[in-house]
Amino acid sequence: MNHAPANDITLRFDCSGVDWEQACTIFERAPLGTRKPDRLRTTFENSALVCFAWHGGRTVGLARALSDHVVQSVIYDLCMLPEYQGSGLGTRMMRAMLDRLETPNVQLHSVPGKEGFYERLGFCVMRTAMLLSADPEDMRRKGYIR
Ligand SMILES: CC(C)(COP(=O)(O)OP(=O)(O)OC[C@H]1O[C@@H](n2cnc3c(N)ncnc32)[C@H](O)[C@@H]1OP(=O)(O)O)[C@@H](O)C(=O)NCCC(=O)NCCS
Repeated sequence: MNHAPANDITLRFDCSGVDWEQACTIFERAPLGTRKPDRLRTTFENSALVCFAWHGGRTVGLARALSDHVVQSVIYDLCMLPEYQGSGLGTRMMRAMLDRLETPNVQLHSVPGKEGFYERLGFCVMRTAMLLSADPEDMRRKGYIR
């Protein structure tokens, strides 16, 4: 069940005021894996674009993107608390990110099973995406690589 009318949720595009412990909780509850607060903070602070969904003084959703600002961008880490899922917030965050990413190509790596969400936004499944991973067995187990 969703917590709030969409117009009570504000999107912000900077890291100010973010409680990184709370942000890690969003990842765990979404679920999108485990993160450590310091590393999470660094990945967001080093990103070209960040997006935080705020409701009632706390962060309830987040996403980030890397970009060369000319040709290529990559979106990572879109997730929100379960009680905020399923009522358009993910679509709103993605559209806000895409409006701000000025590059002609925007890539992302969908969680297995969420491809349909991104196809609705115009994304196409790539035929030749390649990954060099420090832990290929883990990536294979999670369904990201063959
Ligand atoms: C995936 C996620 C970001 C989507 O955000 P959301 O706010 O729940 O999605 P929305 O409400 O904007 O969904 C928009 C539409 O996409 C559809 N959709 C959602 N997931 C889908 C899927 N796996 N396949 C096809 N369609 C999907 C919804 O049914 C909805 O359709 P509707 O408008 O006809 O009702 C969110 O559910 C989430 O945080 N999930 C857990 C973490 C995660 O998997 N993140 C993705 C990392 S790649």
